[in-house]
Amino acid sequence: MTEDRTPAVAENPEAADTGAQEQFKGRKNGLYSEVSDELAASMKSGWADTELRGLEPLPQSPYAAARRARLSAAYPGERLVIPAGNLRVRANDTEYNFRAASEYVHLTGDQTEDAVLVAEPTGATGHDFGLYLRPRSNRENGEFWLDGYGELWVGRRHSLGEAEQLLGLPARDVRKAAEELTAATPAPTRLVRGYDAGLEAALADVLDEEKDAEFKEFLSGLRLVKDEFEIGELRAACAATVNGFTDAVRELSQAVATSERWIEGTFWRRARVEGNDVGYGSICAAGPHATTLHWVRNDGDVRPGELLLLDAGVETHTLYTADVTRTLPINGRFNELQRKIYQAVYDAQEAGIAAVRPGGRFRDFHDASQRVLAERLLAWGLLDASVYDVEKVLELGLQRRWTLHGTGHMLGLDVHDCAHSRREVHVDALLEPGMVLTVEPGLYFQQDDLTVPEEYRGIGIRIEDDILVTAEGNENLSAGLPRRAEDVEAWMATLAG
Ligand code: GLY
Ligand code: MN
Ligand code: MN
Repeated sequence: MTEDRTPAVAENPEAADTGAQEQFKGRKNGLYSEVSDELAASMKSGWADTELRGLEPLPQSPYAAARRARLSAAYPGERLVIPAGNLRVRANDTEYNFRAASEYVHLTGDQTEDAVLVAEPTGATGHDFGLYLRPRSNRENGEFWLDGYGELWVGRRHSLGEAEQLLGLPARDVRKAAEELTAATPAPTRLVRGYDAGLEAALADVLDEEKDAEFKEFLSGLRLVKDEFEIGELRAACAATVNGFTDAVRELSQAVATSERWIEGTFWRRARVEGNDVGYGSICAAGPHATTLHWVRNDGDVRPGELLLLDAGVETHTLYTADVTRTLPINGRFNELQRKIYQAVYDAQEAGIAAVRPGGRFRDFHDASQRVLAERLLAWGLLDASVYDVEKVLELGLQRRWTLHGTGHMLGLDVHDCAHSRREVHVDALLEPGMVLTVEPGLYFQQDDLTVPEEYRGIGIRIEDDILVTAEGNENLSAGLPRRAEDVEAWMATLAG
């Protein structure tokens, strides 16, 4: 792209009203900086009416309405402002792909940039919910084609009327949001911070930092138990992720010939074709890179005889993500030491998954996995069994030199979903049917770790699956990928090119 996409109308709500195409004049617009009156007149007319009528609501819209009802009940008499967020600059006049704020998506099903959901209190109880959205581009004043954010440049968007049908919410022009919200009848107001700096600045006088922080915590906790729609999306995310892992294994020889980047690109292609994107930066960690927990540079060699730790997840079109890890022998067969360590992690994961059940504590699966790993580290002599028993190791946390991270987290719209929710409802609480979490123990022996035998150094193994808490116990949503060492080997053999 060579053209300047400097926003005009986006920063000037009056533009649509004045009808002045003057304001676009002089903007660098590729090779064409001047617009003749004849061309301007031509561009105003001759366009078909493409308004879509009789649209069905999005499948998620009734679920979003039920979530809004829970929100309304929690904040009687308060005005609530939930922005989708704005585009962020990557460099000069190019932006990152937009990804709407999870709080906004959860409560609307919508993903439009710059949008804002507002809950207007109707009295002592209840709220009227409404959206502020960017309307279709004005063709009279030239916004449509002269503004870098006009629809001619970025594509058609839904009209406010279309959005109302799809989302089941009344919609107004977002360019009036700040003005209308500041002029509205005074009411206690909360806003989800961190997404829309302009709106935060406009409402600064009526906002309270502590109350907004509490609001964010509440919204995070509102996502703890997934509804039927969300569980369906997480299933779809896992199914697409299985396909992405399968692609990566099929193309391992290409990765050996190039680098970890081949794996990243291969998985990403699947994520973009079957979903919206990857839900987080894929960790494609070959050899000793597997001991770096968030290895996302992915620029290393892929060497037969070593292991590949692939931690990746497809995010669906509705923005729910999987989070799956497999550690794979690059040449298709684990060696003896790799197999021994893999088996320990597998056993730890099995113990963790078994502890995921309704009524169990959230912490139970972590404790169960850590116990298995601590026992194994003692048995291998990496922890001195003449000094410590397993209880003492766990009490002191000595296993953590090699287990490094927590054993899992909630999963949903965010890969680390519900991370802002209060301890009492999450990490200190009991599991309930409908919760979805990862179980992902690992062992990591750093290359420069002089406390382990040399042959352990540079080995990192994690196995991660996405587990739904059911009424009876749990269901592994990512079971489509093999986990046992021998099943991994057999699966890889079927895919070898
Ligand atoms: N992929 C990040 C994590 O497993 O938590
Ligand atoms: Mn995870
Ligand atoms: Mn992961």
